[in-house]
Amino acid sequence: MDKVATVDPTDLQQEALSAAAEARTLAALNEVRIHYLGRSSALKLALRNVRDRETGMTLNAVRETVEAALTAREEELARAELEERLVTERVDVTLPAQLLGPPKLRPRGTLHPSTLVRRDVEDIFLGLGYEIVDGREVETTRYNFDALGFPDWHPARSPRASLFLDDHTVLRTETSPAQIHKMEERRPPIYMVSIGRVYRRDTIDATHFPIFHQFEGLAIDEGITLADLKGTLLHVMRELYGPDREMRFRTHYFPFTEPSMEPDVSCFNCGGAGCPICKHSGWIEMGGSGVVDPYLYEFVGWGPEEYTGFAFGMGIERTAQLRYGIAGIRPFWENDLRFLRQFR
Ligand code: DAH
Repeated sequence: MDKVATVDPTDLQQEALSAAAEARTLAALNEVRIHYLGRSSALKLALRNVRDRETGMTLNAVRETVEAALTAREEELARAELEERLVTERVDVTLPAQLLGPPKLRPRGTLHPSTLVRRDVEDIFLGLGYEIVDGREVETTRYNFDALGFPDWHPARSPRASLFLDDHTVLRTETSPAQIHKMEERRPPIYMVSIGRVYRRDTIDATHFPIFHQFEGLAIDEGITLADLKGTLLHVMRELYGPDREMRFRTHYFPFTEPSMEPDVSCFNCGGAGCPICKHSGWIEMGGSGVVDPYLYEFVGWGPEEYTGFAFGMGIERTAQLRYGIAGIRPFWENDLRFLRQFR
């Protein structure tokens, strides 16, 4: 009772207002609120014991003033605390990722050299207006041999040379069957390239592997000549191996071209003077090519002299070996990361 009697409303208000103003945090402000307005605060006790109206009104006015001051201070502190958090908890999204914690970045993969060459070859031929077509890895002997003019006795038809699934089904030994599929699908003009895996029953050594990739080209139109073949391959070789390359043809034999030729490109390493890469000849063998044998036109039901065309086929791994200086074919298939990581 004494305590209540000694409460001076003006002092109490003054004290509460300065306590509110001095509170530095919301938690501290809450303490102030409990102390001055809580259930056992001097003010509440005094209010509970009020006997006359005047004292009641005075104490209520004090309570409202303190209440308002606390609310105002609370808003102030809440705003300040938010601002403080916005500053201290700011994330700089421009910082390098590692600085935010231990490096968790996934290691970045690389493209296989065969893929790099395949993409380059595709780009070169797309630039010449060729279409890229898919072939079939599992072929019938009709497409892999008959349509391409392989005689019955040809050694490639032997199960010792090729991988047969049954008497009439073989893992294609070259990409050339893609030519026939395209010719059956559509009349010329045909300008196509087909890239993919081929299979041969080779024993693995430095230069042989039973799976490898080839790219196959076919151009059939009216009035195509050997000069077009040479111009096209010269362009492709210069795109792949540099603008100073020259080409030469050596006559050869393939069952589906007549005449047939093996294109050589001048050595990009020694410029023709002779070095280990070109086996000291100044020239590097690139694959096979020739003028489409009219037998193929007849096979797909066209007249033998309606069109003329040329074709060529080359190895993807061999191209990659020459471009990147890779010794042998085995590294292409060993999945050794030390090798693969070099191609970025
Ligand atoms: N298919 C032949 C091989 O694997 C390469 C080839 C030669 C493809 C002459 C052709 C070509 O298109 O006309 O050895």
